Amino acid sequence: MKTILITAGPTKEYIDPVRFISNDSSGRMGYLLAKEAKKLGARVILISGPVNIKTPKGVRVVKVVSAKQMFEQVKKYYSKSDVFISCAAVSDYRVKKFSKNKIKKTGKPINLKLIPNPDILYEISRIRPTPPAERGGHPSSVISHVVIGFALETGNLIKNASKKLTRKKLDMIIANRVDVMNSNRTTGAIITKNYIKEFENIPKKILARKILGSIRTI
Ligand code: CTP
Repeated sequence: MKTILITAGPTKEYIDPVRFISNDSSGRMGYLLAKEAKKLGARVILISGPVNIKTPKGVRVVKVVSAKQMFEQVKKYYSKSDVFISCAAVSDYRVKKFSKNKIKKTGKPINLKLIPNPDILYEISRIRPTPPAERGGHPSSVISHVVIGFALETGNLIKNASKKLTRKKLDMIIANRVDVMNSNRTTGAIITKNYIKEFENIPKKILARKILGSIRTI
């Protein structure tokens, strides 16, 4: 039985006890991937940011808030997984200094110093053994340590997503147009080193099945 590790939803980076910066993400795509992978008989671990979705039956859900917490959990489970699908909308920045007390309004502009969060997908891809695509041999014989990412783009969808595929050394990237957020349907492309398969206005559930079905052909 294969173990699939999935991240989903946004991360929240608190500025003080009541304010945060975050990304817009419903978590739907990641949860659908988890549900469909479970149906296919995989062992599924879902590292989830704050979302309003019920836990899919049989899926182990680990709830996190910040990118740092998500990274810790991914590192904990990654070595026990065969496939890592990074679906989360991870906040790229966090505040340099968290304020324990609620920041008082002064009526004047304030500056927030933001520092970069770890790129979880990039870091995981970097520490894994040689990607299947570079190992040679029959592709279906090596489906361990497959790493899949998502790319949300406002323009130049395929070009920008392909760059991320190369830069983050991924086996596959799913390019999505930004207007699919919070929707049940999606438009974009599944991209690997060898092919680009576009899809238009399909239910996210169907995309989840396509992605899982494609893992065998990477
Ligand atoms: N990702 C991640 N950790 C981050 C940022 C992104 O793991 N700190 C992952 C996402 O889960 C996704 C992929 O990287 O699978 C691409 O995310 P995206 O936000 O589209 O791109 P970025 O790498 O953040 O680049 P940019 O914001 O410049 O488009």
